[in-house]
Amino acid sequence: MQKLIIRGGEKVGGEISVQGAKNSALPLLAGCLLAKGESVLYNCPELSDVFAACRILNCLGCKCKFRDNTVSVDSDVLNSSEVPDGLMREMRSSIVFLGAVLGRMGKCRLSFPGGCELGPRPIDMHLSALRQMGVRITEEHGALDCSCPKGLKGAKINLSFPSVGATENIMLAAALAEGETVIYNAAREPEICDLAGYLNSCGARIKGAGSSTVSIEGVSELHGCEYTVMPDRIAAATLMAAAAATGGELSLLNVRCDDVQSVIPVFEQMGCGVFCCRDRIYISCTKKLRAVKTIRTMPYPGFPTDAQALVMAALTKAEGTSVIVENIFENRYRHVDELVRMGADIKTEGKVAVIRGVKELYGALVRASDLRGGAALAVAALGANGETVLENVKFIDRGYESLEKQLCSIGANVKRIL
Ligand code: EPZ
Repeated sequence: MQKLIIRGGEKVGGEISVQGAKNSALPLLAGCLLAKGESVLYNCPELSDVFAACRILNCLGCKCKFRDNTVSVDSDVLNSSEVPDGLMREMRSSIVFLGAVLGRMGKCRLSFPGGCELGPRPIDMHLSALRQMGVRITEEHGALDCSCPKGLKGAKINLSFPSVGATENIMLAAALAEGETVIYNAAREPEICDLAGYLNSCGARIKGAGSSTVSIEGVSELHGCEYTVMPDRIAAATLMAAAAATGGELSLLNVRCDDVQSVIPVFEQMGCGVFCCRDRIYISCTKKLRAVKTIRTMPYPGFPTDAQALVMAALTKAEGTSVIVENIFENRYRHVDELVRMGADIKTEGKVAVIRGVKELYGALVRASDLRGGAALAVAALGANGETVLENVKFIDRGYESLEKQLCSIGANVKRIL
């Protein structure tokens, strides 16, 4: 089990380029299934989740090659519509392949994506939308058997919650469906716009991505194309939290300011100076951090749930008491106990976490139990006295390209122990 050894006390500084977005690369890779011929995705992050997605594509008959943050996918000939259980279990978001396989093959068999570290991850909205599009779905022994013998039909779909994955799955299924699909109460995350941008470059006809109503006019065929994955807005928030936790200053390059518009005010309330211009963000956190009264996680454009743990890590040493309300996932405070082991004063009750600022954090032996919680422990360790040993780095590797190299490049003292 790999570990990170983090020696705290160094202020981060300098400039760093933000990696490509994991949460866009994954649905884009699923989208490559729909497009006959070769697609090339640039700025694709080198992550274990991306490699897991490539293994699924290969298993379906695609030819995937990944090199220097560029992945090429040749989907000319597919020879399977079944995703083996082992591959499904590697990452929960593999459910997004369902819409794409159905769109291209008219049938799909895959196992229920297990719950994950954030609690049960139901897919009821995905399945009810696909059923409305004419898909017959039987669920037995943990496997989903899906078929649409008469082909996918456009439908008007109301989402009870603006689910990112459900919106993506419907877009992928609707791209080659017969007729028009309209998604009401669609997710508005930037990753939805990225998926629409890629699919439209392949010949799809998607309008309204980024708004609550997305319409997809089905077409008969899609062709491969070249596309650049958007910057990772959560990786950007992570680096901003590292600057806040260490009292440092950073220039983030290749980032889209619009994508972090709900995160910037929180760092400003903490007392950081944040300046945006074009594809660059400059953050300076040289003053003592102040507590933030209340942060509520919400669907985009609200404060992103994925940044919750990261901002909490920075708030552990802020002056005063902060309150966080996690409205999106049931079980997204698993990093709290580990932060308390480092000397943080945090109490949770259901959705609510109360963080009372302390003078110091201390290095400790801590364990990641999910992707963003693990990154939060690394951020806290940067601002702690002494050495932290962070176990279960595999969770962090799912979403961050060599986090230790990224942090060392801005002055932190981090080593990976194999
Ligand atoms: C995506 O997950 C992201 N993952 C998550 O990022 C992110 O936290 C989440 O969106 C919210 O922004 C990827 O893009 C790969 P949802 P997703 O469907 O699609 C409930 C990270 O750390 N729900 O918007 O699974 C669900 O249980 C990851 O990068 C249903 O009840 O999120 C959750 O409580 C973590 N039924 C809420 O909706 C459904 O059918 C939001 O889920 C679908 C979802």
